[in-house]
Amino acid sequence: MRSHYCGQVTEDLLGSSVRLCGWVHRRRDHGGVIFIDLRDREGLVQVVFDPDTREAFEIAEQVRNEFVLLVEGRVRERPEGTVNPDMVTGRVEVLGQALTVLNHAETPPFQLDEDDVNEETRLRYRYMDLRRPVMQRRLLMRGRITRAIRDYMDEHGFLDIETPMLTKATPEGARDYLVPSRVHKGSFFALPQSPQIFKQLLMMSGMDRYYQIVRCFRDEDLRADRQPEFTQLDVEMSFCDENGVMDLMEGLVRKVFAQVLEIALPDPFPRMAYHEAMERFGTDRPDLRNPLELTEISDLMKSVSFKVFSEPANDDLGRVAALRMPGGGALPRSVVDDYGKFVAIYGAKGLAYIKVNDRDAGKDGLQSPIVKFLSDESLAGVLERTGAQNGDLIFFGAGKQQIVNDALGALRVKLGEDHDLVEGGWKPLWVTDFPMFEWVENEQRWNALHHPFTAPRTDDPKLLEDAPGLMPSRAYDMVLNGTELGGGSIRIHRPEMQAAVFRVLGIGEQEAQQKFGFLLRALQHGCPPHGGIAFGLDRIAMLMTGSASIRDVIAFPKTQTAHDPLTDAPSAADEAALRELGIMLRKSTVS
Ligand code: AMO
Ligand code: AMP
Repeated sequence: MRSHYCGQVTEDLLGSSVRLCGWVHRRRDHGGVIFIDLRDREGLVQVVFDPDTREAFEIAEQVRNEFVLLVEGRVRERPEGTVNPDMVTGRVEVLGQALTVLNHAETPPFQLDEDDVNEETRLRYRYMDLRRPVMQRRLLMRGRITRAIRDYMDEHGFLDIETPMLTKATPEGARDYLVPSRVHKGSFFALPQSPQIFKQLLMMSGMDRYYQIVRCFRDEDLRADRQPEFTQLDVEMSFCDENGVMDLMEGLVRKVFAQVLEIALPDPFPRMAYHEAMERFGTDRPDLRNPLELTEISDLMKSVSFKVFSEPANDDLGRVAALRMPGGGALPRSVVDDYGKFVAIYGAKGLAYIKVNDRDAGKDGLQSPIVKFLSDESLAGVLERTGAQNGDLIFFGAGKQQIVNDALGALRVKLGEDHDLVEGGWKPLWVTDFPMFEWVENEQRWNALHHPFTAPRTDDPKLLEDAPGLMPSRAYDMVLNGTELGGGSIRIHRPEMQAAVFRVLGIGEQEAQQKFGFLLRALQHGCPPHGGIAFGLDRIAMLMTGSASIRDVIAFPKTQTAHDPLTDAPSAADEAALRELGIMLRKSTVS
């Protein structure tokens, strides 16, 4: 029907006739002349109807916002004074000669150029929401990102292979979405949390290099960067070590940024060990655009009289750390108190601080409720190690390592945001040398920090089982501006090591056979050394489009409560369907 997209009507077409299709973005009646901003995927153009073209003019009088039109007209220059330099099509307009209404539309549930429409409404009328130019740009960019990815993976010999959606649980740390089987009553498929095991089986099958842009399902608490179904760029390759994977994959991310945003990311990406990241930033996904850093001071506090500090300083699982806020001495007391409330969310019992008035005046130069409990030496050590200057504020966290890291890590991010300390630009990095396991205190057991197929930094299963807590893994995460974009590892490729990891995790012989017997068997039939990674494609698109949530780069996302207001899913299944599946609901779940 059309000769051009609305957004393509520029000076180049002056004098030509065009046929445009699109939606009425706005209609203005200027006494005798009607202006319609016509909108399609590529943009907006102004169409003018004057009473000389009587038939078209009369139809134009009837149209309303969001009517669907076919317009025929001639491109002409806009009159002096009405040029809009901010629009691609802002120097021209189309003089409408014929107009067909292809469809009517009810009054929209919200104005498309309104900014603060609530998300529930946006999702209920997602097809309207997606008409907004900002949403169209985001989805268009997402499409360009996946195209750049496919080009790169293809150039590097990766095969796009599909893996099943109806499958068995893959342990990635979340709950599974289960699908009941009608044929095998009482049995359930799990939707994949990732294609992890299948991509490893593909390496055992000799496919050598695999990738897939694939939907994954995880029933977990949702956040701005988490959805119950999301998309991974999933990658696996054989006969490689971690450098092989990391080099190829940062090349991919550089290419995507260069091709889609014309941004040159660093080459190579910096790398940082997990322990260093935790010590300096309190998190394994540090935003390096934020200049604030934590300083380790446990060793300085071992013998101070202040028990709040000395106890964790002498505890192997404890930590005392400082966070210097340059110029923070000027913060009003109420703001500092609010930060104390903020860290309490993370379990911190308090937020001690010192205001540095005169760093050379000993205790007299420091203003704080806690200096009286600290020795001159420990204070001098804190000032020196944090590099504190007059006018600075130093915050302190003391307690269990995890609480201190979470609390001060989050405070660092908040201070950065509140005081505009975060620089612009893009700061990617690799975080490496993760521990294999973390100890779950209340359940008294080890948990795999990555997943149980990640290889340890040893070939000897005995070394691993003797000291699981000390063993580093061969895992790596790619982090960009404080978001974990992707994570992967070199995998275990020998059955003895896989069995040892299951033992450390407390997965018994029988359970291992029942859950992963097929994998253990496959490992005995000639498995090559292999490794891989998976990226969160939605997260990449979120960062690259500058969106605040991954919901803004997913055409039909779920709300924070894992509900879809558009289709009203999930919803009750009818009795007949349940009977066929052999399912009876528990009383307490039926309201
Ligand atoms: P992981 O669990 O780290 O690794 O997931 C890889 C990446 O997927 C993204 N991601 C999510 N994005 C949106 N919503 C979610 N709920 C969500 N969960 C994860 C993140 C994350 O970095 N099989 C391994 C990869 C491997 O070892 O190769 C895996 O799935 O960006
Ligand atoms: P208290 O002796 O409990 O009144 O605490 C004295 C100061 O230390 C107060 O400023 C508290 O906010 C702070 N504080 C208490 N517990 C901690 C903690 N675990 N980490 C950091 N500061 C703390």
